[in-house]
Amino acid sequence: MVGIGERKSRTASADSDGLVDRIGQVVGSKGLILDPRDMEPYLTDWRRLYVGRARAVVRPATTAETAAVVALAAAARVAIVPQGGNTGMVGGSVPDDSGRQIVVALQRMNRIRNLDPLNNTLTAEAGCILQQIHEAARAEGRLFPLSLGAEGRCQIGGNLSTNAGGHGVLRYGNARDLVLGIEAVLPDGRIWDGLRALRKDNTGYDLKQLFIGAEGTLGIITCAVLKLFALPQEVVSAFVGFERLEHAMVLLARLRAAVGETVTAFELIPRIGLELARRHVANVADPLAGPHAQYLLIEVVGSRRDSSTREAVEAALGEALRAGLLSDATLAASTAQAKAFWRVRETLSEALALEGPTIKHDVAVPISETPAFIRRATAAVEAVLPGIRTVAFGHLGDGNIHFNLSHPAGGDPEAFLARKTELNRIVHDITADMGGSISAEHGLGQLKREEIARYKAPLELELMRRIKATLDPLNIMNPGKVL
Ligand code: FAD
Ligand code: MLT
Ligand code: ZN
Repeated sequence: MVGIGERKSRTASADSDGLVDRIGQVVGSKGLILDPRDMEPYLTDWRRLYVGRARAVVRPATTAETAAVVALAAAARVAIVPQGGNTGMVGGSVPDDSGRQIVVALQRMNRIRNLDPLNNTLTAEAGCILQQIHEAARAEGRLFPLSLGAEGRCQIGGNLSTNAGGHGVLRYGNARDLVLGIEAVLPDGRIWDGLRALRKDNTGYDLKQLFIGAEGTLGIITCAVLKLFALPQEVVSAFVGFERLEHAMVLLARLRAAVGETVTAFELIPRIGLELARRHVANVADPLAGPHAQYLLIEVVGSRRDSSTREAVEAALGEALRAGLLSDATLAASTAQAKAFWRVRETLSEALALEGPTIKHDVAVPISETPAFIRRATAAVEAVLPGIRTVAFGHLGDGNIHFNLSHPAGGDPEAFLARKTELNRIVHDITADMGGSISAEHGLGQLKREEIARYKAPLELELMRRIKATLDPLNIMNPGKVL
């Protein structure tokens, strides 16, 4: 960190309007990063697609400090880039390369302000790491069900701003379904306190929902009231192998007939995904004896600690094996074994990145259409680039496929990446043709800002631009993202 004195000499020239100096007065030395080396981790996105430059990285400790910083930036007409854990997949959390923008990183705002077990609510500041919230809820015998591979680093403010999905959507919904109230700093620096812990409040527009999924373009979320759920008394994890995608749909329907709406994960893993994870990531084991074309990681929860859920899952999978829907299946006999199943699934992103350049697609289609989508999109990309490797994995239970493309083995990675726009077009056109979304859970950021204009109705884009112009007339809040 740079001391106030030293900072004065170094930034004087770069701080001709004195903005950084005034911000320094508000947040103090702990809250200001000016040294380019210290700023680096805040300037590059997780996928290393974007490397920006910033005038400063500001780390407010309170909502009042955040509001004061935004008010100063607004007065100086200087743009702000809100940042959480910087695990986003679409380049929304990093500044552009002008060097004029300020990154406002929320990591110091990591207090859990309240946990009310009887109201089943937890009030967390935006900088709380998702895992931290899981642990606080669990300590009170409660569950906060938002679960994703980045949960050791992503922040609740970022999760809400991206309306994150993850593994538990089919049972608990997306991030926006898990919030009762938020507090946000508006682009003019005013604080909106919408921290209500109510499950019913019909008093006009549900304003909080505007900020959720806005990717930091309408204001900075500083705190939220989250819904908690009863901690499951039994968690059954299964890893199954199968050959035909259509069989997964039948299995999901049969499972739900057997256990009701208690399926909390239904994750697709193709054989190539398992192989890449074993090749590139340590301690990834194949849970089944022989190879299978496709795998599912299934999780079902029970409210009683009596193995009734386990028996129901075993029976349903046994029937599916006898019916030829599945080729093999295993149930975790311990939490450690369940963790080993999840390690296969949660390391897929990393394994793909280590395998080489990846062209990622985060699409959603109606659940019943997922087999047809995967088949159609795979054939279409293979037709234009023989040898391309399709790694279609994801949240099958909610129709969300991470249709990721890896360069042909031994092929030229640069030549592969040069086909990105063409391949995006093919995959997204098929998605749209099937009534789908080109961004199921990761958002638009800067990666899909142009692409969405092709698929979203002009009226929808106009309404979004009018909302943006109303809340942020100076366009200082994360400009160049989403729209
Ligand atoms: P950041 O990346 O820091 O920011 C994301 C966006 O939100 C940016 O536009 C930023 O400006 C804005 N923002 C951040 N904090 C605030 C705030 N307090 N107020 C206003 N705007 C803010 N995503 C899923 O949905 N499902 C998954 O299953 C999933 N799995 C992942 C697995 C891995 C291994 C990785 C690396 C990422 C995964 N992601 C997934 C993507 C990512 O983790 C999510 O998008 C997450 O919600 C981002 O949170 P973050 O705190 O890292 O936000
Ligand atoms: C996942 O589900 O693992 C993520 O959303 C990440 C990805 O698409 O790579
Ligand atoms: Zn995902």
